[in-house]
Amino acid sequence: MDRIRISGGRKLNGSIPISGAKNATLPLMIASLLTDQTLVLENVPRLADVALLQRILGNHGVDVMVGGKRAGETQYDGQTLHISAAHIIDTTAPYELVSRMRASFWVIAPLVARTGEARISMPGGCAIGTRPVDLLIMALERLGAEIEIEGGYVIARARNGLRGGKVVFPKVTVGGTHTAVMAASLAKGTSVIENAAREPEIKDVADCLNKMGAKISGAGTSRIVIEGVARLFGARHRVVSDRIEAGTYAMAVAMAGGDVVLENAQPELLKAGLDVLVQAGAEITPTNAGIRVTRNGSGLAPVEVTTAPFPGFPTDLQAQLMALMTRARGTSRITETIFENRFMHVQELARLGARIQLEGETATIEGVERLKGAPVMATDLRASVSLVIAALAAEGETMVNRVYHLDRGFERLEDKLSACGAAIERING
Ligand code: EPZ
Repeated sequence: MDRIRISGGRKLNGSIPISGAKNATLPLMIASLLTDQTLVLENVPRLADVALLQRILGNHGVDVMVGGKRAGETQYDGQTLHISAAHIIDTTAPYELVSRMRASFWVIAPLVARTGEARISMPGGCAIGTRPVDLLIMALERLGAEIEIEGGYVIARARNGLRGGKVVFPKVTVGGTHTAVMAASLAKGTSVIENAAREPEIKDVADCLNKMGAKISGAGTSRIVIEGVARLFGARHRVVSDRIEAGTYAMAVAMAGGDVVLENAQPELLKAGLDVLVQAGAEITPTNAGIRVTRNGSGLAPVEVTTAPFPGFPTDLQAQLMALMTRARGTSRITETIFENRFMHVQELARLGARIQLEGETATIEGVERLKGAPVMATDLRASVSLVIAALAAEGETMVNRVYHLDRGFERLEDKLSACGAAIERING
């Protein structure tokens, strides 16, 4: 298994190209099942999750053609996928595949909307929380699907097609909102989603669906209205930039010190994260290219943060912020409200000398003068990158094990950081 070795203490200077968003790419690829024509997605990141989803879609009969390199493109430009679900030959998503990536459960929406049936394995457990799918099922029932749960599979049927309805989410759910929007796009009549997720990735998927002929309004707000259409068509869509990747590198620069431009990063998608970085003592400057992050000389100030759905502070940046606060001058508090078990990085950060107390949903971080390199273990995608951030400022060498977690969501991480001066390398096998 690959590992990553980091020698800490180097500042970061230069520029980092931000890739297309993983959490927009996955639902966009799934949306291709809604049409028999070709959906072309540009700026698609080269990630393990994207490759796995290609396999999962292939299992339903979907062809995915990867566009070749074009003149002037660099290794940091995203790939272009030509996705064609002309014929759906299988409406079952097996446990072996779904259990490896939870978001693949979302195929249930376009499959039942387009073919009238879907048999999808329940995703099973996850490192960061129980993560049930009851609200996704509730949404499909509100749109007229008959649901049966049997042998670990959710069977959804709508023999006469789905019909418009009202979906009120008792709590904000990104997956639930994607599921409801996709299903309602082909339902007969009008649907209304209340208390919808407002994440930028929801808006990006809705923009793409509207290019495919859907009639969606209000995406990005908590009330979305969808007028169902009989058929959707092919389109070309550029994936929005990855605000979580951008936020992660911004935290890395604040941790190591330096001056870096995050190219293609969109500050408006990351406001809550950037505001916290300014509180902590980093300088944030929007530029034509993206976002410039600087921290030189000044120490890090402690912060108090509670994670929340967009536009609040994203849970997907919680671990990275905790790593940063291990070196703040004083006591920070971070409260995690989205996932009940998203503190797996705490014990690993403690191995580097961090002082963190956990009480229920809140972590109290006592800033320390120095961290010291050590072997650490990645446990999930965002926890693993928090260890990389801590290692950038730790004295000596850190070895991060199980980096396959990182490859799920960060494209060319060690290349991007070493191009800015970090002493980081991957050790294969
Ligand atoms: C999406 O997961 C993201 N994944 C997650 O990113 C992200 O952390 C999360 O949204 C919150 O922003 C993708 O986009 C692929 P939710 P999702 O439904 O849709 C509960 C990463 O690191 N819930 O918004 O699964 C749930 O347990 C990943 O890139 C129910 O109770 O998250 C959680 O407590 C990790 N019943 C809360 O709602 C349901 O049916 C929010 O989950 C659905 C969710």
